[in-house]
Amino acid sequence: MEKYVIKGGNPLVGEVEIGGAKNAALAILAAATMTDETVYIDNMPDESDTNAMLQAIASTGAHVERVDRHAVKINASAVHNYTIEDYIKKIRASYYLLGAFLGKYKQAGVVLPSGCNIGLRPIDQHIKGFTALGATVNIEHGIIDAHADKLVGSHIYLDVVSVGATINIMMAATMAEGKTIIENAAKEPHVVDFANFLNSMGANIKGAGTDVIRIKGVERLHGTEYTIIPDQIEAGTFMLAAAATKGDITVKNVIPKHLESISAKLIEMGCQVHESDDAVRVVATRRLQNTHVKTLPYPGYPTDMQPQITVALGLASGISIVTESIFENRFKYVDELTRMGACIKVEGSTAIIEGVDKYTGAVVSAPDLRAGAALVIAALTAEGYSSVEDIKYIERGYEDFDQKLRDLGGIIEKVDSERDEQKFKMKHA
Ligand code: UD1
Repeated sequence: MEKYVIKGGNPLVGEVEIGGAKNAALAILAAATMTDETVYIDNMPDESDTNAMLQAIASTGAHVERVDRHAVKINASAVHNYTIEDYIKKIRASYYLLGAFLGKYKQAGVVLPSGCNIGLRPIDQHIKGFTALGATVNIEHGIIDAHADKLVGSHIYLDVVSVGATINIMMAATMAEGKTIIENAAKEPHVVDFANFLNSMGANIKGAGTDVIRIKGVERLHGTEYTIIPDQIEAGTFMLAAAATKGDITVKNVIPKHLESISAKLIEMGCQVHESDDAVRVVATRRLQNTHVKTLPYPGYPTDMQPQITVALGLASGISIVTESIFENRFKYVDELTRMGACIKVEGSTAIIEGVDKYTGAVVSAPDLRAGAALVIAALTAEGYSSVEDIKYIERGYEDFDQKLRDLGGIIEKVDSERDEQKFKMKHA
């Protein structure tokens, strides 16, 4: 099985180019099936989650053409299969095909999503939204089925701020009759990007990026050419990698505004953060200082950046407290980090972190996507060799992660045999 082998101790220094936002891409790919015309999407990240979504879309009868590594053309005029079971069992965002197909074809079936196991991840708000628009939703034999004779606009108040429900309801409402209002909507950058994409296909959506999104139904959508925004979380991961390794990284092709909550924490931790139009440089010259973090919906500190900052705070002076308020099971990686010498106590949704001087290399296993990336960062700071196993999780959402880290001076390789691991150790003895 493939794993990363890492020799820690090098500060990461240099420039890194950030790719397109995975979470925007997954929604945009699904929505590309809502027109019979061709949709061209650029800045598409080449990751296992987006590739699984592309395969799922192709399995419906849509024509999917990879123009190059980061561009894809989709033509959904031949879609004939409205129930998707294959390819997407492991990606949570498979539920976006429900909103897209319900919106366009008034019928959709998708196998119940699983995705990263970071807590109970209900979809009651999605179902509430679809039902309010006039759909009938049933869950049988592990499949969610949604259908309607017609969809009619409605006033929907979300009980929790949910990215997935906001996007799914937007899709279903786009071609409904009349007006839909989504209150308590999610405001994440990819929600805005997604609304911009749908509008470029002829939808009429206003207010994305605020608490209230207003959608006027249109009869049809048309083809478009669209470039996905840069990935906020990939960018943030490299920013934290600079901090944890006492490095100096310029993270390029980003929207600095989307990174403000992360930049603010890094400054509190004693890093220098320099912003320019489309880049952020993080410089860490001395030991990090402790701080407190609470994950919140955007513009708060993102839950998808919680493990990375916990890893960095594990090396900071003093006691830090990290509170996870979005997902209840997102500290599973702490046991792995403890094996590297971290001193962290988890009580419910709070981690109490007593900073240690250094981590020491160990064999650890990625429990989910972002925690996996965080463990790689920890290993890059650690004394000696580490192995990070189960990297399939990391590959769901980071393109060329090991290569990008090597380009910054990290000593990391992907290996799939004991022999290659030994070779790596001899090479870097
Ligand atoms: C999306 C992101 C994920 C990120 C999360 C929060 C994608 C593909 N994934 O996940 O990386 O961590 O946003 O920023 O974009 N909830 C309900 N009922 C629902 C839906 C959600 O109670 O019907 C709860 C969830 O359990 C969670 C909170 O709402 O506590 C936020 O979840 P949500 O924003 O929906 O996350 P996802 O869209 O699954």
